[in-house]
Amino acid sequence: MPKSRRPTIGVFDSGVGGLTVLRALLDRIPDAHYLYFGDTARLPYGSKSAATVAHYAVGAVRYLQDHGAELLVIACNTATALALDEIRAAAGVEVIGVVEPGAHAATAASRNRKVVVIGTEATVSSHAYRRALEARSVMVREMACPLFVPLVEEGWLEHPVTEQVARIYLSEAFSEDAGDADVLVLGCTHYPLIKPLLRRVAPGHVKIVDSAESTAEDVACYLGEQAKTGPPRSSPETQNVELGASNLKFFATDSAEKFRKMGTRFLGLPVEDVVHVDLKE
Ligand code: DGL
Repeated sequence: MPKSRRPTIGVFDSGVGGLTVLRALLDRIPDAHYLYFGDTARLPYGSKSAATVAHYAVGAVRYLQDHGAELLVIACNTATALALDEIRAAAGVEVIGVVEPGAHAATAASRNRKVVVIGTEATVSSHAYRRALEARSVMVREMACPLFVPLVEEGWLEHPVTEQVARIYLSEAFSEDAGDADVLVLGCTHYPLIKPLLRRVAPGHVKIVDSAESTAEDVACYLGEQAKTGPPRSSPETQNVELGASNLKFFATDSAEKFRKMGTRFLGLPVEDVVHVDLKE
């Protein structure tokens, strides 16, 4: 990809949580065009089966590609953990998920090669992080924290209830043979919003790895490599898609207004150009 060209990056999530990944991408690659798809009508993915998540995710990424995405970032940990292979098989462009970058960053951050990963029920049951970390000879304790997503969506980022819930989850996660684990991986799109609270509650020696940030780094590296080796694999039609004045466009399967409101909180920037999408089953 020539350095002067602005790539169109499609970012997919089950809802607004993936805006934490978009934020990290914007911080590193501010001049790209972004198409963000939040499947707000069908979330949460974290309690659904692999087959359902794969079906939803493939429909959404096809939509992003049809609208000009030349590179796909699967911001949703659950969709990455359960359906990355199916998404890759259906996509005609490069696909980057959040699990491998998160596992890579955790491995680099851990001194004693013991890591705790927190995520949704579905992410934890898939053991995708376990496989990625064990392949790097890292011992892992995975812990499902299903109450965090609704608490974050409620905006209870510094609430005593959230703190109490975090204490219960983390004391179990950092117990017995994981008691001396020195890295905590935030394996869910929503958790970066409660990072300050988790920082306080986690044992003092623990480093926090945010898979949103590691993924954005991987995307920047990929684009850097592409810039050296040539243009991305995209069709001529997709290169002509016009995004208007802004470099951010959002698609949501539930109310655009609701997405605008909640999205602004997750992105930390005004979310304006939101289009409601009805994906037929
Ligand atoms: N985006 C999901 C994840 O990162 C959390 C929300 C959901 O369960 O859909 O795992």
